[in-house]
Amino acid sequence: MDKVRWPFPESPGKLWNVGSGVIITVVASASKLLLSVNHLKVHGKERLLDALENRDKSRGLITVSNHYCCADDPFLWSILPWRHLNFRNLRWGMGAAEICFSNDFSAAFFGMGKVVPVVRGEGVYQRGLEFMLSKLDAGEWVHIFPEARVNQEHQWLRMKWGVGRLIAETKSTPLLLPFHHQGMDSVQANRPPYTPTIGKNVTVLFGSLLDFKENVAQMISNNVSPRDQRELITKDIQKEMKQLRYECETIHAAR
Ligand SMILES: *[C@@H]1O[C@H](CO)[C@@H](O)[C@H](O)[C@H]1NC(C)=O
Repeated sequence: MDKVRWPFPESPGKLWNVGSGVIITVVASASKLLLSVNHLKVHGKERLLDALENRDKSRGLITVSNHYCCADDPFLWSILPWRHLNFRNLRWGMGAAEICFSNDFSAAFFGMGKVVPVVRGEGVYQRGLEFMLSKLDAGEWVHIFPEARVNQEHQWLRMKWGVGRLIAETKSTPLLLPFHHQGMDSVQANRPPYTPTIGKNVTVLFGSLLDFKENVAQMISNNVSPRDQRELITKDIQKEMKQLRYECETIHAAR
């Protein structure tokens, strides 16, 4: 796909940094406002804050979640205190290249919001994933929707193996924090005119922090191929997410 704009300048100038600061602040404010007029309940938020602030900084962090509405990211990050809502600390996200990066304006907007273009169908060895790998190598935070699209069905799609690759192939195995959320699709409709609503319940449940370091070391010493490594890791994550979804749905339904 040659129409994709790569949004990140070699060395960002002052204007780019200011633009990014403005975009992140405006989007985060709007997200906080929207979720303040709905009823948000977060379980296990301390696990996210702990992972963000207290992990061994030589290790990156990957968060994964279900994707129920096109605005899950950024709206859900409104649960974070302001000290995390800036270019330095916010997650690196992935955006569908053909949607978010099809013209210069939207490419700049998403790039300044730390969203990286990913071309669906181009597999796990593509520029966007190499970029994510380099960020994890630098100990930073990456968020992934492993289903790679909005999915409101009551079945998980098979997760894409990119997340498995990032865990298997980052020099210092990143930590993984899964979470599930429920109710975002009633806050932000998935169809035009995408009108946000008030008074809806949103429930978020964070799982426990997972460390694949031993698994990866073992697979490498057993000569498991890179392809099988990423498949096995991704399957483990999917199993974890299924359980989390079940728990979160139960909590949400009881509200
Ligand atoms: C939202 O949750 C509250 C309790 O937290 C409950 O009283 C209310 O009925 C729920 N609203 C909806 C729309 O489900």
